[in-house]
Amino acid sequence: MTDKAAYVHRAFTAIARRYDLLNTLLSFNQDRRWRRATASALEIDGSVTVLDVATGTGKLASELERKLGADSCVVGIDFCEPMLRRARCQTRSTALLLAASEKLPFADECFDGTTVGFALRNVPDMEKTLREMVRVTKAGGKVVCLEFSRPKNPIMRGLHRAYLMHILPLVGWLVSGDKEAYVYLPRSIMEFPSAEGLRGIMQRAGLQGVRFRFLTCGVVAIHIGTKPHQADAHTPGEGCD
Ligand SMILES: C[S@@+](CC[C@H](N)C(=O)[O-])C[C@H]1O[C@@H](n2cnc3c(N)ncnc32)[C@H](O)[C@@H]1O
Repeated sequence: MTDKAAYVHRAFTAIARRYDLLNTLLSFNQDRRWRRATASALEIDGSVTVLDVATGTGKLASELERKLGADSCVVGIDFCEPMLRRARCQTRSTALLLAASEKLPFADECFDGTTVGFALRNVPDMEKTLREMVRVTKAGGKVVCLEFSRPKNPIMRGLHRAYLMHILPLVGWLVSGDKEAYVYLPRSIMEFPSAEGLRGIMQRAGLQGVRFRFLTCGVVAIHIGTKPHQADAHTPGEGCD
């Protein structure tokens, strides 16, 4: 495990019990809406198989179950057992596995779509995780990423920064009892690439038609990319003058 992975693993082990409550409190109860929009962004239905990477306590997996219905299969992976333990109680039918996002234990192209929510900030190598997601997604399927972003409007941006730096660490510490995890959270949000930057990383990981949309004044962004069919895949150098 890299230093970052070990640090993140420790942090989520410490806060697993309070994670959901804090999500709801700190997002002013918006987190559910954000995850619902992420599940919808897959734009699939019928009898499908979907993977939720770094599923944590299973909140996004539950939205996927709800959206896709009983004929579909949702699989969730996470490398933190205490988070998965909670997911086992909170999901109905999701198959949950202990695994790292950089080395997904699945064959190529076995999922109709893949999602990741609030976790790209935490993984040791974002592009590697995205490449793995692309590998296990069927051609034509979507990879959808829900992640924190930063508002563009200067006033909202200032307010958001003040909230992240002063209020969030205090509430996080008081409710979870873990000071460090909620100092790490705002820092990881501030250091995360812009929405345009993440689009570039997703393109480098092999996705096509990557687009994003902001929710809640740009506090979060949903990025959606499509795995190309072999013939459509961009070959380096192609189309360049
Ligand atoms: C902020 S939580 C997000 C959980 C969930 N997706 C949600 O929407 O609430 C981040 C999750 O990523 C997991 N995680 C971080 N790095 C990981 C890695 N390298 N492999 C697998 N899971 C990882 C953590 O254990 C944690 O459960």
